[in-house]
Amino acid sequence: MKFSNVTIAGAGTLGSQIAWQTAFYGFNVTVFDAFEKGLEVGKAYHQKYAELFLKTRGASHDEIDQTISRLSYTTDLAEAVKDADIVSESIPENLEIKQSFYQELGKVAPEKTIFTTNSSTITPSEIVIAVDRPDKTSNIRVGPTQLIEYSKQSFNITSLKRLKSLILWTKTQL
Ligand SMILES: NC(=O)c1ccc[n+]([C@@H]2O[C@H](COP(=O)([O-])OP(=O)(O)OC[C@H]3O[C@@H](n4cnc5c(N)ncnc54)[C@H](O)[C@@H]3O)[C@@H](O)[C@H]2O)c1
Repeated sequence: MKFSNVTIAGAGTLGSQIAWQTAFYGFNVTVFDAFEKGLEVGKAYHQKYAELFLKTRGASHDEIDQTISRLSYTTDLAEAVKDADIVSESIPENLEIKQSFYQELGKVAPEKTIFTTNSSTITPSEIVIAVDRPDKTSNIRVGPTQLIEYSKQSFNITSLKRLKSLILWTKTQL
């Protein structure tokens, strides 16, 4: 199975970074957030990352334009996942919020869609009870925190490659 379409749920600190990086590496990315305000925050992060990639990663203007063209944003969950190969979830670390999200997600996601959570402390077993497809659900905790301004010094290509490898590795598990 070849992945093309990735949906990122939650446009906050972590989700916005994963979305940007996934789009930079050539995937079509839909960013979903329950709130318009959340999407605005995510878009603002993406403007920052565009500048960061131009200044510190040697990315070309064409690469940045291509990345931006692969990103779309919505507060409509059904629209966000209508052709998703994978959903990477980074919504608040709250069991009730996550379980409610997965219940809704299961109703609208196509059968092919794989669910992954970035949860730090909530266990996969707590999430799996809320999903309609436990066999396609996993905790894959990725986070290119190197994109955050305060950790600029640890920004390095090794970590970016690690994220790409993780996504490629996920494909081998299907
Ligand atoms: N921040 C990190 O460095 C980090 C690292 C590892 C893991 N995590 C995990 O990632 C997840 C997200 O953390 P964060 O720091 O990015 O949070 P955040 O608060 O920065 O962002 C959460 C986003 O989710 C949105 N949201 C709220 N309810 C929602 C819902 N029902 N559906 C969709 N979107 C909703 C919010 O509007 C917000 O944009 C958590 O599970 C956290 O444990 C975070």
